[in-house]
This record gives sequence, C-alpha cells and structure tokens, in this order.
Amino acid sequence: MAKTLEPIPGTSDLWEPEVSQWVRLENAAREVFSLYGYGEIRTPVFERTEVFVGSIGEETEVVQKEMYTFEDRGGRSLTLRPEGTAGVLRAIAYSGLQQGEEKRVFYTGPMFRGERPAAGRRRQFHQIGVEAVGRSNPYMDAECIAMAMRYLDELGLDNVRLLLNSRGVPEERIQASEGMRAYFSKVSDALCEDCQNRLQRNVWRILDCKQEGCQEIIENAPAVLSLMGKESNEFFDEVVSQLDTMGVKYELAPRLVRGLDYYEHTVFELVSDSEQLGAQNALAGGGRYQVSLPGSSKKVPGVGFALGMERLLMALGVTEQPKASMADIQVYMASLGNAKQAAFSLAEKVRSWGIHVFAENENKSMKAQMRAANKFGATAALILGDDESANNTVICKHMETGEQVELPQADLQGHLQQILGAC
Ligand code: HAM
Repeated sequence: MAKTLEPIPGTSDLWEPEVSQWVRLENAAREVFSLYGYGEIRTPVFERTEVFVGSIGEETEVVQKEMYTFEDRGGRSLTLRPEGTAGVLRAIAYSGLQQGEEKRVFYTGPMFRGERPAAGRRRQFHQIGVEAVGRSNPYMDAECIAMAMRYLDELGLDNVRLLLNSRGVPEERIQASEGMRAYFSKVSDALCEDCQNRLQRNVWRILDCKQEGCQEIIENAPAVLSLMGKESNEFFDEVVSQLDTMGVKYELAPRLVRGLDYYEHTVFELVSDSEQLGAQNALAGGGRYQVSLPGSSKKVPGVGFALGMERLLMALGVTEQPKASMADIQVYMASLGNAKQAAFSLAEKVRSWGIHVFAENENKSMKAQMRAANKFGATAALILGDDESANNTVICKHMETGEQVELPQADLQGHLQQILGAC
C-alpha cells in the first residue's frame, strides 16, 4: 500500500462499526450532562495562539513542545486546539458573562498535540469535555466530579479510580513553592535535566515528570496541601466532605498537579485499571481553574474535565476497524433493459419508508446483480425490467430462500415490511 495513503502517524481514519461506538459515547454524554444543565457548545478547532499560551501556561509541556502552531496568510499566529477549555472560555467571555453568572457547557471534538504516538497517545485525539464557568464554589467541583462518575457508570465502565488533590490558590502557592523548592534542591543532582531546569522556572512541573529516575524522589516530596494555607485546605475539605455525602469514592493523590497551569484548588484524574490502556491509563482529567484570556486583566473561574474518547473506547474493548465499510443495506434494487430510471425512482420511494436501499448504477447482467445483492448482505432484491415497469409491478426476491414473487408496486411497502420485520 502506498505510504502516501496512510494517515499521518498518531491520526487515524474511523470506520463503521467503530463510528457507531463514538456516537454512543457522544449520545450518553448528551443524556447525562443535560441532567445537570449542561448544553452543547462547538468552538473552532483553531484559535489565536495567545488564547492557549496565556491560559495553559508558557512553562507547560503542551505549550513548549506539543502545539501545532502556524502562521496564516495574514501573518497571524494560529494554533490547532490542544485542549478544549481555553477556546470554550474565550467563546463564553465573547458571548458575555455577567459577574456571578454561571454557564454550563459540554463539547466533543478533535484536539491536536504533537506528541510521540503510542497506544492511547495520539496527535489527533478526541475529547468529551465539560466546563461550568463563572463561579468558584466547592459544591460545583463535587457535583462536576459526581457527573463524570455517573457518565462512566452509564457507559458500563468499572475499574476506574478517581484521584483527587488540590493545587491550592495562587496567593498561597508562592510560599508553598519555596517549601517544594527546598525539598527538590536537596536532591537536585538525582533529577533529570528537564527537572533541574524546572527547579528554578516552575518547581510544580517536577511533580508531573514521568522519568523513572525522578519518580522515587517525587513520591517522597511533601504533599501539596501540606505546604498550602487555610484557604486552599478549607476549600478542599468542603469538596471532599460533599463527595463523601454523595457517596462518590475517591483516592487522595497528594502530589497530583496535572499538566496545565490554569488549575487552582481541586484537581482530579480518572484512571483505568484496564489492561488495554497500559501506561496511558488516564481516561479523564480536570479540576478548578482561573483562565486568563487575551486582552483582559480579569481571570475567568470555572471547573470542568475532559475525557479522552480513544482511551474510553480502548477501556470498553472497542478495537479500530481498518476496513472501509458501508451502512447495512436491506434491499438491493436491480434493473434490466431500459428500466434503470424507473428503478431509481422506486428506490427513492422505498427509502421514504425508512428502508436502506442500494440501487445498482452500473449495467450488469441479472446474475452479476444477484451476486452483488448477496455481497451487500441484502435481505431482499427488487427486480424491475421493462415489462414490470410498464405494468407498475416489481419482482421481489428473498435472498436467503431464493423465493420470488411479482407484485403490484402499490403492495410493495407491506410486503417488504413483512420480509424485513421477520429477519
Ligand atoms: P488533559 O488531562 O490534558 O486535560 O486531557 C484530558 C484527557 O484527554 C486525558 O485524560 C486523556 O484521556 C485525553 N488525552 C490527552 N492527550 C491525549 C493524547 N495525546 N492522545 C489521546 N488522548 C489524550 C485537558 O485537556 C483539560 N482541558 C481538561 C479540563 C477541562 N480541565 C478543566 N476542564
């Protein structure tokens, strides 16, 4: 197969029946999220680069190494969205958000990150995400987490653990950073080169390092909340207490910081123990944030999460289908002589009854057309020749039994419904 026909590594083509599974994930999201008042939003797949840099954070892996950024013909720097939150907040701010007002939206769609492709790590991947924007309140966080769990439950996914922590508030983070820096400075020689740089630039990013050599050091680092003050701890206690009241199970993950810089207060991840996922076991990530938008000095508060659709499907055991496939065909419309035009009209009529029809568009012998009907897996073939067309009749052949009858076209709907209903 020509290499040029292959999709770019880290991207893929999607075919039925896998596409139906994607639609199932989206429909379940619509159903569950609307119970909590979330409406759907669709934002552009590319934005001005500053929309992402300002909100996600200049020091993050995503901004430093993974964004697909390009200059358009007008000389503007644009970026394919690496995640959904920044664009959604831009759209909400653009539509106008009153002080103290709350807006709840969900989205589905492709995101783009220039990562090294691996199982569960793609360059074009798809997220289902939610954002509750405009207020800062621990009840919102607990409710948002409960909604994520309800969604996974609705899909029938168990073996999922909820990891929970807090990033604290920025006012308390300055002092906390000192504490964290003091710990890592003592062991800096054992850190990887990237982490040695992070020590000065953004010490919290060290907690997110996946290098094996750094792991043990990170495991013994101080718990984030132990370095934070009263405001961060009180907010977190309220979230936890509300989760307890709602019966949502969680595991405290005292060093979880997440890879994006807009978070403050609650952060969480949903990890799966399913074998299919291997190292990329985070099905979803989220938390509370304050997002900076270009041209505004005010930050916008909110809470949300995003689920990776590819990873959800892997956890559900849905595998990629590399073969082109069509929708199921129930009826194959064959024609002979000059009856093709009439056959196409009849096919349209049959479709108006809600029946899936393939009308043969090539001139083929009857034998070749019946072979095609079999190949499509059609339950019935309709045959229209010049005589049938003139008499307003049609021949209907049951493909499995081989039985065929000629009947008035006026009786066809009832006849087909009988045959198709019985299979
Ligand atoms: P994130 O943790 O970067 O958070 O991504 C959320 C989920 O997207 C991950 O848990 C994973 O399932 C999936 N994902 C991320 N990168 C890839 C990839 N390269 N290939 C396949 N799947 C991937 C966010 O994006 C935040 N915007 C979530 C959020 C919403 N926080 C608040 N609101």
